[in-house]
Amino acid sequence: MTSLSPPDQKVWWKKPIDRAELIWIFIVVIWGIILTLMMPLWHIFGEQNLSTETYRTTPQRYMEKTQAFVDQYTVRTEGDRQFPVVAPPAGEDIYMVARLWDWWPILELKQGQSYRLHLNSIDWNHGFSLQPANLNIQVLPGYEHVLTITPNATGEYSVICNEYCGINHHNMVGKIYVVE
Ligand code: CUA
Repeated sequence: MTSLSPPDQKVWWKKPIDRAELIWIFIVVIWGIILTLMMPLWHIFGEQNLSTETYRTTPQRYMEKTQAFVDQYTVRTEGDRQFPVVAPPAGEDIYMVARLWDWWPILELKQGQSYRLHLNSIDWNHGFSLQPANLNIQVLPGYEHVLTITPNATGEYSVICNEYCGINHHNMVGKIYVVE
């Protein structure tokens, strides 16, 4: 019998379970338990699955905080659109806005120092993807995500959007500098 032909016995569900099937059910259950345990293990020992704090916010409230941060710590501007490059002191709360279609502002951080990075989208769902470090966080409207980051290598990092957000999704690229 294959799955394409009808079962030869109409009342097939009253037959005892085949040994092979039982083995497969057992494997699936064990594998499910292993994968469930891996979630906290990856978090604790694998240094993956970042812990983030999440708070309710509104676009207006978040923009105000980001604007205040930008006004206080901007050191220069960059590009045709005069994007501010913001160099906050170590340990500071730092802000980045996701919006159609950019990450604003550009950050300049110090290697080996910790910062509390705040992320929020003021319109749609975007995906924060820091490359080449490959750190990924969903950025949702209405929620302010906060995570502690400690850049461990100098260089120029790109923040790409990895959640499809419309016609210019592929151009939604931000920047973070890490300096000595
Ligand atoms: Cu923002 Cu894709």
